[in-house]
Amino acid sequence: MEVKDPIEMMKQEFNNYIVPKGWEAKIESLEDWNKFYQETVKDKESISRYWESWAEQIFWFKKWEKVLDDSNPPFYRWFVGGQTNLAYLCTDWQLQKGRKNKVAIIWEGEPVDEKGEPKEVRKLTYYDLWRESNRIAYFLKNRLGVKKGEVVTLYLPMVPELPLYMLALQRIGAGHSVVFSGFSAEALAIRAIDAGARIIITADGVWRRGKILNLKAIVDEAVKLCEKEGHKIEKVVVFRRVGNEVSWNPERDVWHHELLAEVPKNVVVECEKMGSDDTSFILYTSGTTGKPKGAQHSVGGYAVYLYATTKMIFDIKDDDIYWCTADIGWITGHSYIVYGPLMHGATEIMYEGALDYPDPSRWAAMIERYGVTIFYTAPTAIRMLMKYPEEIYLKHDTSTLRIAHSVGEPINPEAWRWYFRVFGKEKTCSSSTWWMTETGGIMTGHYPGRGKILPLKPGTNGPIIPGVTFAIVDDEGNPVPPGKRGYFVITSPWPGHLMTLWKDPKRYIEVYYGKYMHKGWWYYTGDFAMIDHDGWIWVLGRADDVIKVAGHRIGTLEVESAMVKHPAVAEAACVGKSDPIKGEIPLIYVTLKKGYEVSDELRDELRRHLRATIGPVVASDALITFVDALPKTRSGKIMRRLLRAVAEGKPLGDVSTLESEVAVEEAKKAYEIVKAALEKR
Ligand code: WTA
Repeated sequence: MEVKDPIEMMKQEFNNYIVPKGWEAKIESLEDWNKFYQETVKDKESISRYWESWAEQIFWFKKWEKVLDDSNPPFYRWFVGGQTNLAYLCTDWQLQKGRKNKVAIIWEGEPVDEKGEPKEVRKLTYYDLWRESNRIAYFLKNRLGVKKGEVVTLYLPMVPELPLYMLALQRIGAGHSVVFSGFSAEALAIRAIDAGARIIITADGVWRRGKILNLKAIVDEAVKLCEKEGHKIEKVVVFRRVGNEVSWNPERDVWHHELLAEVPKNVVVECEKMGSDDTSFILYTSGTTGKPKGAQHSVGGYAVYLYATTKMIFDIKDDDIYWCTADIGWITGHSYIVYGPLMHGATEIMYEGALDYPDPSRWAAMIERYGVTIFYTAPTAIRMLMKYPEEIYLKHDTSTLRIAHSVGEPINPEAWRWYFRVFGKEKTCSSSTWWMTETGGIMTGHYPGRGKILPLKPGTNGPIIPGVTFAIVDDEGNPVPPGKRGYFVITSPWPGHLMTLWKDPKRYIEVYYGKYMHKGWWYYTGDFAMIDHDGWIWVLGRADDVIKVAGHRIGTLEVESAMVKHPAVAEAACVGKSDPIKGEIPLIYVTLKKGYEVSDELRDELRRHLRATIGPVVASDALITFVDALPKTRSGKIMRRLLRAVAEGKPLGDVSTLESEVAVEEAKKAYEIVKAALEKR
């Protein structure tokens, strides 16, 4: 697959309106949509009223006094004075609504038998969720002394215990910090230290493509790294998933099942009445510096935003079977596996393993097995499935799907069409929902929850959500015309907005509000986007030093600082390189210290080093290239645009705007040198 210019590719789709089969009578005119949208954003009062109408639909221990306090921007406080609890909304409230015996989660383990049928399936009802999270809450509180406001680190794979621990922590008013189980010991340690966690919850292992991955060993290593930094992990709770051998420190380690066994039968732990702007969780994400930042989310605003967007975008009804294929270690899993769907009393699928195990038809087989009606996945997964002959998917009946969205990165129209046709049978409402860890929930997309939809267009992110305003602007903040690339900014606060960055309010202001300070309080997304003549959004990719590898958000500086920790590496520069399947892959230019020779062995060693310091997410796809020197400006800044141009196989282009202090000849020379090095790989 050839990588084409994304702007041109998307512009070709501006007028390709597609009406999915069966939705003909539900198509809304653009005029009606705009009228509806404009009503919600007419002024500040309309915006508040709009979000208040959603808040009225969920349970509160105490009603809010004020919808939005924006007196100290950008520290917005939503539903001030209100009290609720995410665990209460996801469990107790569901029991009250008569869903006690309804299946909440159908979990499938990765291993299959000779016939290809899953060896392990667990079904948890809403009563199970409620009871088990109560029991976990009981020992967290009474045995491990977890207090309201404390943050506990979860390093768990895709097993039901992960949402159970999240709910248990919400129940007692503690925050969670979930670290994706594909991250390395070092990445885990950095996050545990920053969160101030004294407890890590993990599993013995997990199945991944037929092999057991020993997670406990990674945690042991992380605990050691924490200790080296003077941070003590007092307890490691281990869920026995696989039964693999693990090393054990009896003073520190404790089995999940042993803690459970001591809990009195049928305990009820009272739900903490959480203030609307108490913290529900932090989730680390990548930015443009080496240090990951902890996006800190609220209780009330987040709950309302998740309740609203889940309804708008997924339209989950009681008889739906919903499946979001994300890992709970990322925001998509937090919001649209755990909190959003459970708040709506959904029945959902959760899957432990790889999408192509035992073969790439696994997902199609699962959609058929459970009759999935709503599906949510990532473009990178779709492109990976597209590599195989369609017949393997057509063997399975996926015609139950009525909604099939994507998230995480731009979806190229070709992949959108394939997904819509092969999985969706041209019947699905399929949108590319744009949002970020920081936004808490979805911000763009088609809106089947209203009972009507706008026609689809391959590759578009659709209109912005009602109750939110945005602009696509140039560097100065002036709007750019349709079809032109600009920066994507959100110009009014919304309830899912992160509260701040954990322990770093200054950085919070700088990162999200620094760029357009002269225009007012505009949230800077860090994305390039354009609008079309209908006012719909087309996000083109990151405008900063963040890359999206298979939908995973990685800071190039994180990669660089990991690389230079290796004794052989003098300097490293990382840029994104387009990839037909992964979206982007990290291309890392490395210069070596004196005494080290370029060799394939060293390249392999650097890859292992990357795996150990960041994790397999980055390491497995990284292209490592040795160069004699990195192209730099006189003040020592790496010429990233030059490196990017080389990576994309593009000509250097207009050098005069490259870096004002670089001589044109020098830049051209550097370009040729780097290009030659890349070709030699
Ligand atoms: C990108 C993931 C285009 C974007 C929920 C954003 C997208 C970053 C889309 C946030 C989409 C997410 N179309 N780009 N539908 N969804 N992105 O925090 O660059 O992991 O800024 O949140 O993903 O990544 P994060």
